[in-house]
Amino acid sequence: MLNIAVKAARRAGSIINRASLNLDVLTVTSKSFNDFVSNADRAAEQAIIEVIKDAYPEHAILAEESGPQGDSDYLWMIDPLDGTTNFVHGFPQYAVSIALSHKQTLTVAVVYDPGRNELFTATRGGGAFLNDRRLRVSKRIRLAEALIGTGFPFRQLKHLDSYLAMFRDVVKSTAGVRRAGAAALDLAYVAAGRLDGFWEIGLSPWDIAAGNLLIQEAGGLMGDLQGNDGYLESGNVVGGNPKIFAQLIKILAPHLTSALKK
Ligand code: IPD
Ligand code: CA
Ligand code: CA
Repeated sequence: MLNIAVKAARRAGSIINRASLNLDVLTVTSKSFNDFVSNADRAAEQAIIEVIKDAYPEHAILAEESGPQGDSDYLWMIDPLDGTTNFVHGFPQYAVSIALSHKQTLTVAVVYDPGRNELFTATRGGGAFLNDRRLRVSKRIRLAEALIGTGFPFRQLKHLDSYLAMFRDVVKSTAGVRRAGAAALDLAYVAAGRLDGFWEIGLSPWDIAAGNLLIQEAGGLMGDLQGNDGYLESGNVVGGNPKIFAQLIKILAPHLTSALKK
């Protein structure tokens, strides 16, 4: 199943790479406030679904652009192009994200950065890899030395004030904060030890699922803003190496509204 996920991600990646050479002819439409989709997103998603359906016609799919289809214990969660806003601006930070769950347990994960040809993979119990290299989360234990990734709540503006309060405290307590613009890739970077931790409000399951398994298989932790489960549903996530994860949860705690405690 990992092989199929990799095949699908690579096929999507070549569609995205080709489209990146000619951004002028890209058709971009707005789905809702600050939420864009291009024909590259759609073509990449169709290619992924085709590869999966050829191999596993009975499996269910939840894909960002075409929604849910099928009913099965096996569910593929697909973000064909994570970081669309970056992509349409030619800002080279975006990825394909594909995850498979079986009876609600994540079993396979692929995050593929086609621009850099970096393939992040994980299988439950089998570890996490970047291309052929085994991944471990960073060993940094002091928040003051930590580099933290985040995403802005630029669609759900109702959380902006709470977020900015969190942001202020994280900026004051860490070595730096990065907003690179592709959540699935941010999570893969936590697994790779490039980031020591990450938090974001209001993500979708296809943004989170693959990165989640990558982080866990690299020895890290993931939770909602209080460190609990249920983040795939709420979309509010914190991830990191175990020490930084715990310290991030503590820093965010004073700023959680009741809506963010879910
Ligand atoms: C978005 C990116 C971004 C995050 C947004 C996501 P998309 O995904 O991951 O970093 O801040 O919340 O929706 O729309 O480019 O697939
Ligand atoms: Ca996404
Ligand atoms: Ca997307």
